[in-house]
Amino acid sequence: MARKSRKANRRHPLATVVLIAIGLVVTGGGYALLSSTTTATADTNASSQETIDEGKKLFAANCATCHGMSLEGTDDGPSLIGVGAAAVNFQVGTGRMPMAMQGPQAMQKPPQFTDEQTAAMAAYVASISPGPAIPDEKYLQADGDATNGGELFRINCAMCHNVAGAGGALTEGKFAPELKGVLPTHIFEAMLTGPQNMPVFNDDNLTPEDKRDIITYLKYIENNPSPGGFELGSLGPVAEGLFVWIFGLGAVIALMVWLTAKSN
Ligand code: HEC
Ligand code: HEC
Repeated sequence: MARKSRKANRRHPLATVVLIAIGLVVTGGGYALLSSTTTATADTNASSQETIDEGKKLFAANCATCHGMSLEGTDDGPSLIGVGAAAVNFQVGTGRMPMAMQGPQAMQKPPQFTDEQTAAMAAYVASISPGPAIPDEKYLQADGDATNGGELFRINCAMCHNVAGAGGALTEGKFAPELKGVLPTHIFEAMLTGPQNMPVFNDDNLTPEDKRDIITYLKYIENNPSPGGFELGSLGPVAEGLFVWIFGLGAVIALMVWLTAKSN
């Protein structure tokens, strides 16, 4: 009797397969829907023809020798087709471009163009072929969730830039710079465009809100340096252990020497 009812309850062998198929379709479809709504930084920086013409002139005079008259690239610089306004704003705004001399990495110099000139060149490059746009102001206020930002930073950025954003060396003379004092726009654009050896973190990878949280975290540690006392280079347990060994143990030894010297 008991055996019979168990048999009646048994599912059709295909039921599991159908269930898994439905699950896959639902999660896949849901993910596609979600990810298509997170592309808030798509190319929407509409610019007037006047600005684009101005940018074209500036580009021809300052950039085309290395990047080509139609952004096609030369032996001295990569093609800029599809890099977008964000890459131009980042590279020119941080003073990396125009590049002064060839080296392992474009050095930062004081920016050589005004904000208007930079914007014009960005508009020109974006007008030739669309790419990541300059981020929306609402993500640049450093008013997000610093805790989430800190976690994302430790997962995605700390291996190159150090947990406290202090920077670090990479191979072949390249380095990940210190992140203190970098404008929120440039932090966002660095993630969006992945300059040089840095990976690209597009909006599916880290949503604009995630990027805002990372900016919030970086601005938080910039304004609240090391609540626990000395930073010791923020290198972590090794530096801290060394500090304890040298100064802590040193003090104990000094005390012992002093005590034994006194008793004689
Ligand atoms: C002397 C040559 C030279 C000049 C002049 C120059 N660049 Fe570059 N540019 C390079 C090189 C080389 C790279 C790639 C190396 C790097 O990023 O460190 C680069 C990278 C870039 C990138 C990043 C491309 C990417 O894939 O993200 C942008 C954007 C850019 N340049 C814009 C400009 C603009 C705008 C100007 C003019 C104001 C300019 N460059 C002038 C040589 C040059
Ligand atoms: C594989 C190593 C690597 C990882 C991972 C990485 N970066 Fe970078 N980052 C670099 C390098 C290299 C540069 C310098 C590029 C250049 O000068 O052209 C850079 C530059 C930057 C800059 C520009 C700094 C300035 O002074 O202008 C910012 C901001 C930045 N990174 C933020 C981040 C954030 C935020 C993350 C994590 C989401 C991250 N990076 C992950 C290697 C990395």
